[in-house]
Amino acid sequence: MKAFVLRAYGSPGQLELRELDTPVPAAGEVLVRVRATSVNPYDWHLMRGEPRLARLMPGGPGLRRPDITILGCDMAGQVEAVGPGVARFKPGDDVYALLTGGGFGEYVSVPESLLAEKPWNLSYEQAAAVPMAAVTALVGLCDTGGLRPGQAVLINGASGGVGSFAVQIARAMGATVTGVCGGRNADLVRSLGADEVVDYQTRDFTRTDRRYDLVLDAAGSRPVSACRRILTRRGVFVVVGGPAGRWVRPADRMFTALLQNPFVSQRMAVADAVARDQTKQHLATLTELIEAGKVIPVIDREYPFAELPTAVAYQEQGHAAGKVVVTATGW
Ligand SMILES: NC(=O)c1ccc[n+]([C@@H]2O[C@H](COP(=O)([O-])OP(=O)(O)OC[C@H]3O[C@@H](n4cnc5c(N)ncnc54)[C@H](OP(=O)(O)O)[C@@H]3O)[C@@H](O)[C@H]2O)c1
Repeated sequence: MKAFVLRAYGSPGQLELRELDTPVPAAGEVLVRVRATSVNPYDWHLMRGEPRLARLMPGGPGLRRPDITILGCDMAGQVEAVGPGVARFKPGDDVYALLTGGGFGEYVSVPESLLAEKPWNLSYEQAAAVPMAAVTALVGLCDTGGLRPGQAVLINGASGGVGSFAVQIARAMGATVTGVCGGRNADLVRSLGADEVVDYQTRDFTRTDRRYDLVLDAAGSRPVSACRRILTRRGVFVVVGGPAGRWVRPADRMFTALLQNPFVSQRMAVADAVARDQTKQHLATLTELIEAGKVIPVIDREYPFAELPTAVAYQEQGHAAGKVVVTATGW
């Protein structure tokens, strides 16, 4: 099979197209032919081995060289073969999954427990846009944020991968939604269901008399203390991400929020979609919302597989409107 292999930590130029043996599914695993993948900040954090602090953490990406050499945490495709003991899937089934890696290859062998049936009303390309970004939005709003119908929610970074799902999910859950994005994406964010849009180029969303029950912060553009000031007394601030850096960022915002938490009336928390112990349930919830027409992936650009490093470089610029998808055409 063909796959983009990460030679060493560094730029997208370190992703090299190679011919490898097609994996054989072990017991409990399913071999999937990847039809599409999508690019997430998670992929280029692993590609660069940054923030470097993460290399020192247990379960980190590898101290000197990458432990994961085939990146790609989002995947949609078709079951090719199943290993011993797999009962839920058979060859030909359409599936999608949130993986640690492997989506940047032609085939990937996946534990059965991580796979979900692809929503019937999405193409492979649309389905590949869902897992990481939408699971993060769902975890941040519902599991971490405890979102309830009727609450006022502000989403910072509303036009990005996570944000474009978060606006739709919050709306579907019965919240009143304010989305913060650049002016060129205001119409997009409104069309996803935001009741109000704040253009960060002309207004500072933390300078307002309004108070929110939940602020989901995927952009990290304002200090944590400023974001806290726009919360209700028992409001929740959820850090999803923020500007990337070589050594610590965006983890610094997460530490700041967690350190403030014991001293304030609000709840300051961190969404973690990467510790995916409930991914299957999250994908099932998302499939329901998608099949009911309440959530639709927003795709900014599609690239053929041969141009995957260019797709990663584009996503890394941080201004995609929705998701950057890579299709398994043009091998
Ligand atoms: N905790 C987790 O488990 C988890 C999981 C997934 C992602 N993340 C993190 O969450 C963050 C967002 O991920 P993503 O996939 O949504 O990234 P993305 O698709 O690159 O989106 C980033 C968005 O931020 C917006 N933005 C940039 N500057 C802004 C500002 N000053 N104010 C408001 N919005 C601004 C951009 O919009 P413009 O083009 O208008 O600037 C863009 O739409 C990243 O830091 C990522 O690492 C964390």
